[in-house]
Amino acid sequence: MTDSPTTLGPGIRTFKPRRSRITARAQQALVDHAGLMLPVDVPLDLGATWGDDVPVVLEIGCGDGRATVEMAVADPETGILAIDVHTPGLGELLARAGTARVTNVRVMEGDAIAVLEGQVPVGALAGVRSYFPDPWPKARHHKRRLVQPAVVDLVRSRLRLHGYWHLATDWAEYAEVMLECFGADPRWSGGVIERPAWRPVTRYETRALGEGRPVVDLLLTRIA
Ligand SMILES: C[S@@+](CC[C@H](N)C(=O)[O-])C[C@H]1O[C@@H](n2cnc3c(N)ncnc32)[C@H](O)[C@@H]1O
Repeated sequence: MTDSPTTLGPGIRTFKPRRSRITARAQQALVDHAGLMLPVDVPLDLGATWGDDVPVVLEIGCGDGRATVEMAVADPETGILAIDVHTPGLGELLARAGTARVTNVRVMEGDAIAVLEGQVPVGALAGVRSYFPDPWPKARHHKRRLVQPAVVDLVRSRLRLHGYWHLATDWAEYAEVMLECFGADPRWSGGVIERPAWRPVTRYETRALGEGRPVVDLLLTRIA
């Protein structure tokens, strides 16, 4: 495991440990496609993994990876690093990656904030994606949110100039908080966008839409 991240403060995580059943298919994929997993305790060498000059996009909280793999298939020239703490979901992602025979996806099991802090070189990423982080709207959970000034600073430092952070949320109030957070920092530009056609509907999003919550996409670019 990576060291405990320090960005959010002692003991604060953007996720809660959860137990859920792992399917036989996911369990098998964790074995069959172990070669797509990267260790979380050594610095990442993006060039050695994807090739020099290949743009690399990190997805924080890929869930079951259905959107991750679709985007990887559609964009084979981009290296995709998908991170989640939830093993059953990563198994599903690996099963999908195996079926689709994608070669541009790598997976890490761990806290993406710790990976950003300790493993991702400064200025290295072409983009970051976070689709439906923090699905809990209660105020007492706000300190656990992914989008808050310290994490925004961390992500900015790992993006190359003109790199982007693409987010989606189904909580209107959280979208407002995100806009305030990025708006307070002139080193970012951008805001709410239409959902790009290339972003597949995620598993979580299907549920949110079914429950009648509209989805907001935000695209922010590091401009300084
Ligand atoms: C609501 S789910 C959304 C999953 C997927 N993006 C989707 O839309 O279906 C949020 C996911 O983020 C993961 N997550 C939250 N904080 C994380 C962190 N710091 N590092 C890695 N994964 C994280 C959770 O384990 C969970 O799978």
